Amino acid sequence: MSTQKNSNNRPKKVTTQTLVEMKERGDKISMLTAYDYTMAQILDQAGIDVILVGDSASNVMAGHDTTVPMTMDHMIYHTSCVARGVEKALVIADLPFMSYQVKPTEALTNAGRMMKEAGAHAVKLEGGKPVVKTVNKIVEAGIPVMGHLGLTPQSIYKFGTYKVRATENTEADQLIEDAKRLEEAGCFSIVLEKIPAELAQRVTNELSIPTIGIGAGANCDGQVLVSHDMLGLNKEFKPRFLRRYADMHTDMTDAVQQYISDVKSGDFPNENEEYD
Ligand code: KIV
Repeated sequence: MSTQKNSNNRPKKVTTQTLVEMKERGDKISMLTAYDYTMAQILDQAGIDVILVGDSASNVMAGHDTTVPMTMDHMIYHTSCVARGVEKALVIADLPFMSYQVKPTEALTNAGRMMKEAGAHAVKLEGGKPVVKTVNKIVEAGIPVMGHLGLTPQSIYKFGTYKVRATENTEADQLIEDAKRLEEAGCFSIVLEKIPAELAQRVTNELSIPTIGIGAGANCDGQVLVSHDMLGLNKEFKPRFLRRYADMHTDMTDAVQQYISDVKSGDFPNENEEYD
């Protein structure tokens, strides 16, 4: 993979404008999650376009069942670790549950913290009509916002299930309406999570900003996966939409077992691994 360089031989930074231009050219956008410096560096150096510091950190880093427990302080910590590892990718940080739902001014303060204290380039928040004013407030202050529609995990206790959303006409029509309102409010892109592929295609065609799908079919402008899932670090999580690109659970288990065996047998360390 070749990384585009600018005149001083630094990798060219991906911006929100880059993503809109990619949609116009029909170039697909790649996005993955990261929560720490090392993973962020690997993804960035591999050439990923966008790194999302998702509140899925709640599940894969902290071991919670939902994303609800994440706080601003947790997200600022993870985002600052990621931002230090990135030279080129656009870094987007999730605003956690209850950091933007109460009032637009509070949402703006929290979005500002995510940029100033953590180094995010943009924030993501979940929902349609109820967050439109908030999106507008944040964007007007100069902070780019990504929307998130379909399955919105912060509302899990309202939905009661993680199954596919908007399979009925009423919810599908509402989702299209919400997507248009988010675009009008100034979102630079929208994540579409776990909705029928045909609906995602309709939304994608009707918007001029890019859609990024997860479980939303091939016709979105880009795709996102949780890195831990696509790397095969989790054994149990097997939704239909997930493609595993590695089996790191097995590779890491093998490596750890080999290390244990080498320590116990006295094979590690050997004379090349000690000091005179
Ligand atoms: O938190 C997250 O990782 C996300 C993606 C699944 C889109 O919101």
